[in-house]
Amino acid sequence: MSEFNIADYTVVDHSYDVIVVGAGGAGLRATFGMASAGLSTACITKVFPTRSHTVAAQGGMSAALSNMGDDHWTYHMYDTVKGSDWLGDQDAIEYMCRNAAAAVYELEHYGVPFSRTNEGKIYQRAFGGMTTNFGEGQAQRTCAAADRTGHAILHTLYQQALKHDATFYIEYFALDLIMEDGECRGVIAMDMATGVIHRFAAKTVVLATGGYGRAYFSATSAHTCTGDGNAMALRAGLPLQDMEFVQFHPTGIYGAGCLITEGARGEGGYLTNSDGERFMERYAPNAKDLASRDVVSRSMTMEIRDGRGVGAEGDHIHLHLEHLGADLLDERLPGISESAKIFAGVDVTKEPIPVIPTVHYNMGGIPTNYHGEVVVKKGKNNDSIVPGLMAIGEAACVSVHGANRLGSNSLLDLVVFGRAAALRAKETINPETPTPSLPKNAGEATLERMNKLRYATGSRTTAEIRLEMQKIMQSNCAVFRTDESLKEGLEKITATAKSFSDVGLKDRGLIWNTDLIETLELENLLSQAEVTVASAENRKESRGAHAQEDHPDRDDVKWMKHTMATHINGKVKISYRPVHDFTMTEEVEYIKPKPRVY
Ligand code: FUM
Repeated sequence: MSEFNIADYTVVDHSYDVIVVGAGGAGLRATFGMASAGLSTACITKVFPTRSHTVAAQGGMSAALSNMGDDHWTYHMYDTVKGSDWLGDQDAIEYMCRNAAAAVYELEHYGVPFSRTNEGKIYQRAFGGMTTNFGEGQAQRTCAAADRTGHAILHTLYQQALKHDATFYIEYFALDLIMEDGECRGVIAMDMATGVIHRFAAKTVVLATGGYGRAYFSATSAHTCTGDGNAMALRAGLPLQDMEFVQFHPTGIYGAGCLITEGARGEGGYLTNSDGERFMERYAPNAKDLASRDVVSRSMTMEIRDGRGVGAEGDHIHLHLEHLGADLLDERLPGISESAKIFAGVDVTKEPIPVIPTVHYNMGGIPTNYHGEVVVKKGKNNDSIVPGLMAIGEAACVSVHGANRLGSNSLLDLVVFGRAAALRAKETINPETPTPSLPKNAGEATLERMNKLRYATGSRTTAEIRLEMQKIMQSNCAVFRTDESLKEGLEKITATAKSFSDVGLKDRGLIWNTDLIETLELENLLSQAEVTVASAENRKESRGAHAQEDHPDRDDVKWMKHTMATHINGKVKISYRPVHDFTMTEEVEYIKPKPRVY
């Protein structure tokens, strides 16, 4: 059977004030914030909430608490703007840094078991790009629960969500937004255990679906990180912003891709090349191993390219922690000590860990304002709100990270903007009015798309197309890019995406059809991969994580603007939106662009 008939599916309809899609840090914070504001709230998640990728965040959450030395939120704001290479929106950055301390204390009061100083204060470690007094000294700003901070936060947030009676639809795969006349009216999802289709009408849908690291071959992201919300936005005709900026974390375990936290260097770890040289002293004489991630990843890549990589193939770098001693490693870095043992066979008290820059984070995503509302450029209005739609967390581009995110600003972003979205929803949604019902044929086109894939008989397997895509992204849209690598990358990824029409599935069932789910995820990844390479090919400068060797300088005159890319009928179309060159309050001034000194 391949002909589509809606009657072949059981369809169940629901109605809520708010639907949150995704149960990571941002999704959970928004879910219970909305529920506690008296809004009927449900969260749809494709994995059990405590398995969301936030669980893997290690090093911590930044906030200028001044527990370990002088600090101030304005220093944090300065570092974040500088780290973003001036592509971040400064009103949003002000909002995040201003609210950071309150966000950490809120988590503490909810029960997050932060590590402690001898005086009992929240322990804070050094992280890359975090300075005191506008670039003078090294700040200790990253609040940590050993090296399992994401785990601690995620579990606490889930407990809060349960306490506030939010409803969860667990192991449901969100298929599409339901849009009508440019407004979001709900979402359609499949219960993966039964194949039953659920249509959710909502006054607001919040996309908190995370990043799309799995478009690449080697990533610290979980296999579930397929950017499903981003792809849903693209299918709804909405643009994604700044997708060319893909962060490579300097220390993924060589061969395995697992994260070794930047906190390891924050605690005193350092990198060496095949000469045993601490080469970061050459590239970043001030910040050294704690330069921002884009700088460290580029330096490591240059060492490897210049023949100073370690190992038989000379294709990676050593991270040393041996000198820190077993007691400190046990207290502060127990998780990565275990990961190094399991995935690299290394005893960190005795030997260095083999590491390599590994895809870690997507700065780009669904454009929003700092309330979490999705925005598009419409005529002269650069920040026109898409009614009924919000996005938060890694799925969103607020844009607080601009062209490069500072380590430990992600957990902060999740909690601050998850809360901001809930505050906005409380202001704008009236729980007393009924949720408008969905159009009768809502989701029909989505079911048709899904049904077509379920019965697809093409010659290419999902795994084959996925691997091809991942290899193209890894080699053509990497730490360093050139006109040629990107042009070739665009041709190749377009061809691979086209070949998806020849995909063939084996499982025609509806009960736990992982063949179908992986194919839907692949379709999601492919559109984002195309948009990423097209956006990168288009940007003729170097900024943050976009290191373009044929255009090595940052060009603020031509390129200090957000890329907006749509993907309609298989074609990527690029336009722009201005960077916010203003702050949120008059308390701080706009931070003017400066040349970068490391
Ligand atoms: O290195 C880390 O612990 C990662 C933190 C982050 O990406 O914010």
